[in-house]
Amino acid sequence: MRLLFVGFGTVGQGLAELLLEKKEILTKEFGLTWQTVGILDKKLGNVVAPEGLDLQEALTAAQNQKLLEGVRGERISGEATELISGLEADVLIEVTYTDIKTGEPAVTHIRQALEKGMHVVTTNKGPVALFYEELIDIARANNVHFLFEGTVMSGTPVLNLFRETLIGCEFQEIKGILNGTTNYILTRMEEGLSYEDALKKAQEFGYAEAVPDADVLGWDALAKVTILAKVVFGSRAKPFDFPCEGITSITSSAVVNALSRGKRFKLIGRVWRERNLVKAEVAPEEIDINHPLGSVMGATNALTILTDSLGEITVIGPGAGRRETGYSLLNDLLKIAREQAR
Ligand code: HSE
Repeated sequence: MRLLFVGFGTVGQGLAELLLEKKEILTKEFGLTWQTVGILDKKLGNVVAPEGLDLQEALTAAQNQKLLEGVRGERISGEATELISGLEADVLIEVTYTDIKTGEPAVTHIRQALEKGMHVVTTNKGPVALFYEELIDIARANNVHFLFEGTVMSGTPVLNLFRETLIGCEFQEIKGILNGTTNYILTRMEEGLSYEDALKKAQEFGYAEAVPDADVLGWDALAKVTILAKVVFGSRAKPFDFPCEGITSITSSAVVNALSRGKRFKLIGRVWRERNLVKAEVAPEEIDINHPLGSVMGATNALTILTDSLGEITVIGPGAGRRETGYSLLNDLLKIAREQAR
């Protein structure tokens, strides 16, 4: 499998670490052999090598905040949007920053790759929340996969859970904590840290978006809720069709006061069906500390799914982070490898 990385920041590096660590087992157990034929990154530069570059070398350079200049391969200049169509690869790994309002430049990267017959795996929420229907159609027309498990709850299985494991269930409502940064901030505020210091820590740990407004204003959770509305309920809505409120008006004293009443503020994303309409919203809610969602702390995410056949199911797991999000891409790659082996 020839891999082309577009973006080589936290998430791309997380995937690279896992690919290197698990190289032998991937081949032995899953028949997946891979080589990296290119890395295009706005900050680090672009390097391509049709016979495969040394991913460890690239990872070390990136982790030392160096340009990819020392990495063996051919250096090319230009924007990824102009380069992708001219490159040969089997899978494009799209892990550039997310823009929830336009989906760019990621959606252009993805369109070009799919049209060229490359599979695409991504954790980029903007393109999926805004252009899911179009991108799936292009993928089908070109007989390739467009996979994005990590867009919701990073590597914790959610989209696969709906699409594969819970097949045959009817889903009535999905609600949960879908943003790690805000849950981390609310947790640390409960411990006495100020909003500003808690946000700074969330940035240090790599949970927050490049521009953290998208987290604290609720937009990141809104994008995830929209993806769930599309994938699970077949909605064609766009993110800002749904009401959205973030956590910026929640004060430390409100957090402490809620706790004294056995409640915790959580930023809740919710999707449900009302007659023939799919509804969704993001807003802070006071949740009972005894509810499964009320005990989810730090950057952890959780989703409670109301089904016809099983009642309530709650999935709890990491929703952000370098290796956690990297794993979702590895999971998508293994799915492609499995399908190809059939
Ligand atoms: N900024 C996001 C979060 C990253 O905090 O949950 C994962 O999508």
